[in-house]
Amino acid sequence: MSFADPHTRCDRTPAWQRLHAHYDAAGRGFDLRAAFERDARRFTRFSQQAPYVFADLSKNLIDAQTEALLLQLARECGLEAYRDAMFAGAPINGTEQRAVMHWLLREPSPAQSGQALEATDTVANGLREVHATLDAMLRLAERVRADEAITDIVNIGIGGSDLGPAMVVKALDDLRHPGKRLHFVSNVDGMELGSLLRQLRPANTLFLIASKTFTTLETMTNAHAAREWFLAQGGSQDGLVRHFYALTTNLEAAAQFGIETTLGFWDWVGGRYSLWSAIGLPIAIAIGAQGFRDLLAGAHAMDEHFRTTPLEANLPVRLALLDLWYRNFHGFASRSMAPYSHGLRRLPAYLQQLEMESNGKGVDAQGDPLPYATAPVVWGEPGTNGQHAFFQMIHQGPDTVPVEFIALREPGRDLKGQHPRLVANALAQARALMMGRPHEQDGHRRFAGNRPSTFLLLECLDPASLGALIALYEHRVFASGALWGINSFDQWGVELGKTIARDLEPRLATGDVQGLDASTAGLLRRLAPMA
Ligand code: F6P
Repeated sequence: MSFADPHTRCDRTPAWQRLHAHYDAAGRGFDLRAAFERDARRFTRFSQQAPYVFADLSKNLIDAQTEALLLQLARECGLEAYRDAMFAGAPINGTEQRAVMHWLLREPSPAQSGQALEATDTVANGLREVHATLDAMLRLAERVRADEAITDIVNIGIGGSDLGPAMVVKALDDLRHPGKRLHFVSNVDGMELGSLLRQLRPANTLFLIASKTFTTLETMTNAHAAREWFLAQGGSQDGLVRHFYALTTNLEAAAQFGIETTLGFWDWVGGRYSLWSAIGLPIAIAIGAQGFRDLLAGAHAMDEHFRTTPLEANLPVRLALLDLWYRNFHGFASRSMAPYSHGLRRLPAYLQQLEMESNGKGVDAQGDPLPYATAPVVWGEPGTNGQHAFFQMIHQGPDTVPVEFIALREPGRDLKGQHPRLVANALAQARALMMGRPHEQDGHRRFAGNRPSTFLLLECLDPASLGALIALYEHRVFASGALWGINSFDQWGVELGKTIARDLEPRLATGDVQGLDASTAGLLRRLAPMA
């Protein structure tokens, strides 16, 4: 499969030069407070309702001309054609020759929606398989939910086979089946699985071995350890079959492990985009088939927004353009995520993989070195906890860190008066960052202000809203990656460390340091011999 890439790198467009001139003339010295004074309609102009997500972009360091030039850049880059190529199932993941179709996992079945999807063969065939697997997965989820003997479900997976499902299950905890506890084990540190197993009984436990490749060292090590534990606790070989399921594209490896119940998916689903596939089984067990379908429907609404809305009102695109403006013109190296929602406490960790594994690249899609920076560091903690940890630096440190606030209008589980207190803090931080206290005489108490933030508002944290929010981030990553001209769908950067670890592990037993650098050799000598 090959395809004629329809898009151009951002630095090879006329708009890129014009943006540089605009940055020198008006961008560098931009003042938010003055911008609000000049324009009474600034809030309306720079805010918008997308499916399930209201976004206030007005506290960002942009004006109408900045946005117009950024949109011009997106057009000159051919972003729309590239987006259409993804939605047509073209193999846009060039280094792996794969289509990128996680969005297809959210597409309603033509039989149910009554609408025929205009589709290439790749898409039409994919959609049939998607719905057959989804139906099977939801039936299986309902069977587990109805099985009173199963009280604990342990998902063993890492990266995309852990972060997405773990984040969603925590976010939708109010909807969780009361008789099911969901656990997520990822690290190859035995401390994690070991301390969980101490609390479990084989007869009441279901293990989900979640791995796209079914070869990942951490996951396979934990899976084997779980199997040994199961048998050592008196579980039988027959029991293994009932208590271990696999979620993978590698059906053969799952069968070799001895698993009979396997839900499959496809190579066109990237690991960090896979929570909508069989990898979502723990979510479906937690919230039920209808909840999972609602999650998909919310994401689909955002897919349609991204696919069909003109760029100037396309929220993922507007956010991606802001990312580029901050990273490549202002030089801001990171963005802090501040969800004022305890349910969303794992969102920053999830986004770290989504954004940095996708766009943390130093070469373009053709393999040529990039002369500019790409993905910012994404980090954060839920509010208000972050306020009592690192917000000091965001308010008064020398670096500017754009902050992304997320708040909910409706509380999930409100204890009296807590929700308005939580939301007031989010609003207050965004306002304080912008307004500052620049005229304070005492330098210690002076806040320069003019610190940018984006504010996302959801009605509530239900499956549909959460689905839309996640899809918003996925498409933003797609759009910024497209502008930067990189392949957002491979991850070669994780390979080298894996290879070296494979070489070093046996040396830890023998103490052999031949051929190693002096630092690694010195550390290894202190550690060996290790059983
Ligand atoms: O970190 C590299 C990576 O390949 C991720 O992209 C992926 O989500 C994770 O490892 C887990 O991979 P798998 O699902 O194949 O076990």
